[in-house]
Amino acid sequence: MATIDATFAPGRPARRVDWLGRSAVFCYLTIAAGQLLFTAFILLYYYPSALSGDFAAWNNKPLIKGFVAGDTAGNLFFAVHVLMAAVITLGGLVQLVPAIRGRRPAIHRWNGRVYLLSALALALGGLWMTWGRGTWLNYIGAIGITLDALLILAFAALAWRAARERRFVDHRRWAIRLFAVASAVWFMRVGYMAWGLATGGAGIGKAMDGPFDLFLAFANSLLPLAIAELYLRAGAHGTAAAKKGVAALLGLCGLVILAGSAGAWMVMWGPYI
Ligand code: HEM
Repeated sequence: MATIDATFAPGRPARRVDWLGRSAVFCYLTIAAGQLLFTAFILLYYYPSALSGDFAAWNNKPLIKGFVAGDTAGNLFFAVHVLMAAVITLGGLVQLVPAIRGRRPAIHRWNGRVYLLSALALALGGLWMTWGRGTWLNYIGAIGITLDALLILAFAALAWRAARERRFVDHRRWAIRLFAVASAVWFMRVGYMAWGLATGGAGIGKAMDGPFDLFLAFANSLLPLAIAELYLRAGAHGTAAAKKGVAALLGLCGLVILAGSAGAWMVMWGPYI
């Protein structure tokens, strides 16, 4: 009540609502919900088989390669990849919570190191699986995910360097960019489902070679990165109108993410656990 009275007291300037901050929190919560579902799938589907050595069980769901009898190195790379996938997905969500950064800096530092190491392992291991093991359906898709791996490696290095040099404003910027591109494989799944719900699957090819597939091969990292960039710029020196515009965009993204995550759970993850 006191806040309301103070806000509307005659003679005092009306308190501005921080729409950008609010919609960023909303968008983060929708991402967290979707990524927790992805983590649950990885923990329930891949962890038991990867940790017990029952690698053949991976192929109970459609994969490009998954388990290949006799390919010990490829199977081990895949096992490490899916084990680290849960670590990076959960770690990224924890890393972005301001209360943890502010009140538990030790957790932020240690989780940050684990996050950067898992980013390194996933990007380098993913590159090897793509080009060394030959896990791809078409060149454009392979090049798209390669670009993502290179962005992950570059932003991880820049976020780490800024933290080491105690340039915390820069560190936050690079960390948000890193989160955007490290979440690309998840954005891709959510993007497919949201698009499928909206259009019935227009432009999706049988070998993931339709116009939408080719678009999403690059948009899975570049679109979240562009939106993160708009958010950072609006927050740093945007006009009131720009802040409102980006806030509306984040709100819309949150709704798309909710729909796409629910679809991904129902079609891509839930049926296999
Ligand atoms: C950084 C975050 C990443 C996460 C969380 C992640 C997660 C996963 C998961 C869960 C799978 C199992 C497939 C499924 O069930 O959908 C997988 C497979 C795979 N990932 Fe990643 N990945 C990441 C990054 C990358 C990168 C950067 C590349 C390539 C440069 C890559 C290449 C692959 C390949 C080739 C497979 C095997 C696909 C198959 O055999 O069907 N991943 N990844």
